[in-house]
Amino acid sequence: MENRSQWGTRAGFILAAVGSAIGLGNIWRFPYVAYDNGGGAFFLPYLIALFTAGIPILIMEFTMGHKLRGSAPLTFSRLNKKSEFVGWFQVFVSFGISTYYAVIIGWAIAYSVFAFNLSWGSETGAFLMGDYLQAGDPGKFGSFVPGVLIPLLIVWAVVLSVLFKGVKKGIEAANKIFIPTLVVLFLIIVIRAVTLEGAAQGLNAFFQPSWSVLGDPTVWTAAYTQIFFSLSICFAIMITYSSYLPKKSDITNNAFITGLSNSGFELLAGIGVFSAIGFVAVSTGTGIADFAGDGVGLAFAIFPQIINQMPFLNGLFGFLFFASLVLAGLSSLISICETYIAAFQEKFNISRTKAVAFGGGLSALISLVYATQGGVHFLTAVDRYVLTVGVGLGGLIEVILIAWAIKKVKELQSHANGLSQIRLGSWWTICLTIITPILLGYMIVLQLINDFT
Ligand code: PFF
Ligand code: NA
Repeated sequence: MENRSQWGTRAGFILAAVGSAIGLGNIWRFPYVAYDNGGGAFFLPYLIALFTAGIPILIMEFTMGHKLRGSAPLTFSRLNKKSEFVGWFQVFVSFGISTYYAVIIGWAIAYSVFAFNLSWGSETGAFLMGDYLQAGDPGKFGSFVPGVLIPLLIVWAVVLSVLFKGVKKGIEAANKIFIPTLVVLFLIIVIRAVTLEGAAQGLNAFFQPSWSVLGDPTVWTAAYTQIFFSLSICFAIMITYSSYLPKKSDITNNAFITGLSNSGFELLAGIGVFSAIGFVAVSTGTGIADFAGDGVGLAFAIFPQIINQMPFLNGLFGFLFFASLVLAGLSSLISICETYIAAFQEKFNISRTKAVAFGGGLSALISLVYATQGGVHFLTAVDRYVLTVGVGLGGLIEVILIAWAIKKVKELQSHANGLSQIRLGSWWTICLTIITPILLGYMIVLQLINDFT
């Protein structure tokens, strides 16, 4: 097994890890989650989640992949024979995410074309659910919607062809193009957004802290969920990517770079999105709250409305916005798919080509369901289910397993410390063994009580 694929350069690995982390979650998820959960006050639970769970777990997963050199199931089984199932659980969740993540990227492709002529018209919400998605009746699944199907096939063609080419020539090469391009596009968008009239009002609404929400456990759950989803941790991804690192790699440092870049991008997205919302609220004489909708609505109904209102070159701005969603999404989707491709390759001892064809093909096939009339309702349900079950529970199982069931924290700590100038001390061990399991466990229990009473 020692002719394992490897990243070509350190920058290549970091770009791929950052590419996985920066995704739809940063651009459309973070802004509305923060706004809904205390605005400026949300940064407190968010930063606590980042430094007690996000970065410590990222370091742990990088170390596991680097030390044990396997896909997630193989890495977990090398840590302890009985824990292979944890890896499969994570791979399974990633598989579920990949089936609908691809669809949202497909919508973004379609919308980047619509942007040029503003062909979504003035009733952007009705256009999204009616003309474009033909959402119709939740229970009734009709035939394919060509405007959704064709972009979806394009997404899979790109993703599968990157994955066929392998780690260095495929994933690394793609991220070296996608991520720098994304950063440039996004900076243009944010600069344009903050210079719009009304931007200040939007930013005030976004950053205004409502401290009283900090007593509400759902706000803390929202912060932890956002960090786990946004950093792509506990989804088998970072273990898989770090298993392709060369022997000499400063993993702790790489984890800090990845974690901080992701949060930086998230903050930038929040500033851009809320500046734009402030602009549309001021120019239409309505309130900010009318526009700070949920994820799908924010990107695909409210943003088109903002673009309609913009003074000049609005078509181009719209194109840049949706193109940046596409780039951010593709690099994350590639990483999600790599988890099961690597796992199938090792488990069934098959070639990469076969694993991509089978695993990617299966996910692509399932994703077609969402490209039918009514498919969007199915997508929303799967998203909610996968997120609640996958993220919280997946994280809790992973930390309890490693910190308590098989007690591997010390071993991983010395592996990481042997490679880095940054020494992991008691901050790291206390976060993993005590703070994170207690907080996650407490939040999940409260959430269950909330859901079932
Ligand atoms: N981290 C990515 C984002 O913020 O959009 C999304 C993501 C990728 C989540 C892969 C989960 C995952 F397995
Ligand atoms: Na992210």
